[in-house]
Amino acid sequence: MYSEKVMDHFNNPRNVGEIENPSGVGTVGNAKCGDIMRMYFDIDEQGVIRDVKFKTFGCGAAVATSSMATELVKGKTVKEALEVTNKAVMEALDGLPPVKVHCSLLAEEAIHAALWDYAQKNHIVIEGLKEPVNDIAEKSEDEEY
Ligand code: FES
Repeated sequence: MYSEKVMDHFNNPRNVGEIENPSGVGTVGNAKCGDIMRMYFDIDEQGVIRDVKFKTFGCGAAVATSSMATELVKGKTVKEALEVTNKAVMEALDGLPPVKVHCSLLAEEAIHAALWDYAQKNHIVIEGLKEPVNDIAEKSEDEEY
């Protein structure tokens, strides 16, 4: 039911942990399933994400998608990181079962939340970044995913 890549990232998640004094940190959850994901970014003066760590209290797919999401944003600019959507994460994992698609939304929203925090701290506006929600269950109610 899960791809080999999902199993690999679930069994050996990359970039687990925390960053002290992060440039940006974002926490999102889904009240429906109770899963929570937190992402920490270390961003340099050029706006490049030089390090990223995550902590996920959630299902296997949430762990695998957060792990893959951190791999995808590492080394990217803030702008490029915005392009790491849940679809991009799912593709990189060779897909997720339909009932687990919402788990990948948590990863996308956690990236946005960490970027939002970074923007707030630095008083900048990241074009195309909308204020993230804390609970993606509110968002996914009326959205197709
Ligand atoms: Fe909710 Fe996976 S079941 S994030």
